[in-house]
Amino acid sequence: MLTKSEFAERILNGHTPSIKEKATAFAPANIALIKYWGKRDSQLNLPVTDSLSIDLGNLGTETTVEPSGSDIVILNGNKLAPEDAFAVKVINFVDLFRNALNQAATNRPALTITTNNNIPTGAGVASSASGFAAMTMALDQFYGLGLAGRELSLLANLGSGSASRSIFTGFVYRHAGTDPDGMDSYSEPLPYTWPELKIGLITVSAKAKQVSSRDGMERTVATSPLYKKWPDQVKSDMAKMLDAIKAKDFELLGATAENNALAMHECMRAATPPLNYFEPETEAIICKVQELRKEGLPIYLTIDAGPNVKLLYLNKDEEKVKTEFPDMRVVNR
Ligand code: PMV
Repeated sequence: MLTKSEFAERILNGHTPSIKEKATAFAPANIALIKYWGKRDSQLNLPVTDSLSIDLGNLGTETTVEPSGSDIVILNGNKLAPEDAFAVKVINFVDLFRNALNQAATNRPALTITTNNNIPTGAGVASSASGFAAMTMALDQFYGLGLAGRELSLLANLGSGSASRSIFTGFVYRHAGTDPDGMDSYSEPLPYTWPELKIGLITVSAKAKQVSSRDGMERTVATSPLYKKWPDQVKSDMAKMLDAIKAKDFELLGATAENNALAMHECMRAATPPLNYFEPETEAIICKVQELRKEGLPIYLTIDAGPNVKLLYLNKDEEKVKTEFPDMRVVNR
């Protein structure tokens, strides 16, 4: 098994940096239609199962990398203290590149990393996926490496598992892979588009989650009796999802995404101690969506490790969906 540094070295070996004055990259946030929950290697963030996502268009992160006198991290306009947890995470990530590119400690430029999330505060969408993807792309450009998308997705994954998918737009497939070294655990874009498919964000709470996805995954894998069935569920849901996307079968896509998300939350709730990311309002929205469907409105939902709900519907139904959920934020893709 490799360490994160060895993994980054394996990918970056043989690349000679040609440092630019400055580099900026944007990556979109993404929402998984088939979820990733559980790591086969927690150090390298290698997932137990494949996953599949769709990007959130212009909602995401823009990151700029440039040389400076000392390492500085600026998040949404605020210069962070060097000991700030996020700043430490960013600098550790940057160090994976600096070390792998054999930049002697005395001779490697300190960097200013400026990262801005345009995901509106309280949109209930995590920024770690777009954040690490944008940082990976900006570092690739700054060092003039010209890495392929697959390599970028492998590196972004070292920051956060879902970041691997944010390297690409559209429908993105993340392979779990089987290689203990993780070199086959990459993401790739799928060759299908579906402009009619819309996503709406409903924020139930903008508070940070009490249990991180890393800790939540560990607890679920270690203690939930339902987790044993999760890999098979993902396999069968994935086959349905791919059929749905190819055939543009919205009911199949929606039903599969919703079942997959609710099954993930069932697995979490069966953990010891139980893990429940929902708020009462989350439950109320789930009931409302199911009721609306009974009344004939084709609308489905998916929920990540938090209380916020993402609605899935078709463009033709947007006005009706907006009337039912006036607080919903429509994603422009
Ligand atoms: O990338 P992480 O470690 O934040 O985990 C993401 C977990 C989920 O959002 C719940 C599912 C997913 O596939 O994005």
